[in-house]
Amino acid sequence: MSWTPNQIPPQDGRVAVITGANSGIGFHATRELAQRGAHVVMACRNEKKARQAMAEIRADIPNASLSFVPLDLSSQKSVRDAATLIRHQQEKIDLLLNNAGLMWLEEGLTEDGFEQQIGTNHFGHFTLTLQLLERMEKVPGSRIVTVSSIAHRGGKIHFDNLTLQGEYGRQKAYAQSKLANLMFAIELDRRLQQAGALTRSLACHPGISNTNLAVPGIVEQSPLKIGKVVDLVWPLFTQSAEKGAWPTLYAATSANAEGGHYYGPRGWFEAMGAPAPARARRYAQDAEKGQRLWQLSEQLTGEHYPHG
Ligand SMILES: NC(=O)c1ccc[n+]([C@@H]2O[C@H](COP(=O)([O-])OP(=O)(O)OC[C@H]3O[C@@H](n4cnc5c(N)ncnc54)[C@H](OP(=O)(O)O)[C@@H]3O)[C@@H](O)[C@H]2O)c1
Repeated sequence: MSWTPNQIPPQDGRVAVITGANSGIGFHATRELAQRGAHVVMACRNEKKARQAMAEIRADIPNASLSFVPLDLSSQKSVRDAATLIRHQQEKIDLLLNNAGLMWLEEGLTEDGFEQQIGTNHFGHFTLTLQLLERMEKVPGSRIVTVSSIAHRGGKIHFDNLTLQGEYGRQKAYAQSKLANLMFAIELDRRLQQAGALTRSLACHPGISNTNLAVPGIVEQSPLKIGKVVDLVWPLFTQSAEKGAWPTLYAATSANAEGGHYYGPRGWFEAMGAPAPARARRYAQDAEKGQRLWQLSEQLTGEHYPHG
């Protein structure tokens, strides 16, 4: 029988931190976990949108336990401030969903000098995770789920030119960032096991889901009529944002989901369908490359794990 969110066990007493919880997959993951009794910390860059999302969830689930923490993953300072606040507010964290992401940005750098997509999607989550680990390591059953993408398959880590200077492409940068997400999740799991932590790290992807990720960008960049057509046609070729959240929820809560593994929709090209093990490119599983990315990430962010 296919997995559905009906199989999520009760989450009472559990704390989940979800990045990008106001929109798309993060929103639906927040809603499902809150419905089952978890307290969800919604870590979002836009407070107004986060409060609107909270109100929407509470309209259906009046007793939903939700809180907001400001987090801009493109700023290492904002990430550290958010982590400090979360550590202050939460004695333990059961789930960290590294979900937020952006795609196909024009060439540009974050305030820390990272290319924007890898700076936000990978380096932001790298620092957030390492900053929160002390609240997770000793929590039985705790999990970190990092959202990657089918796009990781077309990516490569440009170790000597992470900013893609002189060779920038929007899709190239996105694919690099999503490959980094997957390599991070796998290498993190190796390190957690070596350190004897009780936390496991898993990766997932939502297939192709109708969220705010792609369409606004396509519509904005296309001549008016094409943009409108894309807007109308896109939902026909994608699964709903709600269903897009299933692989994330499966990785976060299913007893059958294992640390170091990658989950996505089981349908054609892994674009749609119920959650199942997904195909991680061999490059993403290469331990040497995973360690190299880890060490580079430590060097560039100043965060380390195992600590000391
Ligand atoms: N949808 C798909 O088909 C698809 C496919 C493969 C992978 N993914 C991955 O799925 C994840 C969720 O995306 P989605 O599809 O749900 O898209 P979405 O609806 O656009 O949601 C993305 C979320 O990330 C947040 N975000 C963006 N930049 C941020 C930053 N600098 N700091 C903090 N939060 C930031 C957004 O905040 P704002 O609302 O303020 O912009 C939003 O809450 C992403 O990692 C994406 O790469 C999606």
